[in-house]
Amino acid sequence: MSPITEVIVNKKTNIQPVWIMRQAGRYLPEFREIRKVNTDFIKLCLNEKLASEITLQPLKRFELDAAIIFSDILMLPYGLNQKVEFKKNFGPLLGDLNLDEISKIDEVDFVEKIYPVYKAINLVKKNKLTNNKTIIGFTGAPWTLLVYMINKQSPKLKLKDDFFKDEFVINRILIILEKFLKVHIKNQIDNGAEVIQIFDSWAGLLSEKDLPNYIYIPTLSLVDYVKSLGVPVICFPRGIKNYKNYCEIVKPDAICIDYDVDPILIADQINIPIQGGMDPKILLSDKETLKKEINKYLNIFKHHPYIFNLGHGILPETKIEMMEYLVKTVKDF
Ligand code: CP3
Repeated sequence: MSPITEVIVNKKTNIQPVWIMRQAGRYLPEFREIRKVNTDFIKLCLNEKLASEITLQPLKRFELDAAIIFSDILMLPYGLNQKVEFKKNFGPLLGDLNLDEISKIDEVDFVEKIYPVYKAINLVKKNKLTNNKTIIGFTGAPWTLLVYMINKQSPKLKLKDDFFKDEFVINRILIILEKFLKVHIKNQIDNGAEVIQIFDSWAGLLSEKDLPNYIYIPTLSLVDYVKSLGVPVICFPRGIKNYKNYCEIVKPDAICIDYDVDPILIADQINIPIQGGMDPKILLSDKETLKKEINKYLNIFKHHPYIFNLGHGILPETKIEMMEYLVKTVKDF
């Protein structure tokens, strides 16, 4: 069993595996090299040879315990025929949402449209660099995808006042998302994903009263589905105020925490395996600060099944040297 599965499934506390969100990304010069000549991000995700190569890039440099497949949560609306582009210095930009169009799509069309994502997982699985490593597949949570599909770009700090105005549309999209997220998860697992992480990057935008409808119920359905396929599931409800309630209701196999939560409180409140937490900005400071902060997390979770990771994705301006030092510090602990 690979170290990450040991921690999640067997709740081992004597090992601290490490992987980093966005480990295959812009802080790597070899990624930027490929990206420079592949200006269309979606096309790059749909190039199975390059997508698998990018997935493996960080494993060639660092002693990481997982390969997270190079893709994006927005491949889902793309697969549903909503237009998705990534604009330089702006981020994702989606086209208008056409409910009739989306309702017409069947499973075969969807899988066909994003098939190279699954083929890339297969290539990663076959590569010897991933022996004894965990291959992580992922999806966006229904709520976060709904936010992008309706808002059509990253929401800044809050939702627009009229976000919930068309309840019928919202409920239809949630039903469609639930169906296709399951298809997407199943195909990733059939092609070699051994753990699924569900990213709910905009969970923090909702108030307490809206959590059941938009987060708890739809995410629980996905979590149950992943479990029914015999695969562990990690949830990352970034920015949510009460991680304890979330864990008790959604019941993921492991919980990834963001950098705003107090790790001491979490270690005390939550007994399922924990992942992540450290602020990615620490990697922009110096080695001494970095080491201190890493050891802080590792000490707090010393008697807890814990996977080292950050509290959000690694920043593009991170120096390779700092990432190297991070992995070494975790391994030496
Ligand atoms: O290494 C990995 O983590 C695997 C690949 C991965 C990407 N996106 C590649 C990517 C994963 C797991 C994601 C998840 C994702 N995508 C999330 C959830 C996690 C989070 O960051 O909150 C979200 C919200 C998205 C949507 C998205 N994709 C945004 C907002 C952006 C632009 C801003 C940004 O952070 O770059 C992207 C683009 C994106 N996805 C890049 C990468 C490597 C950068 C693309 C580039 O080269 O310009």
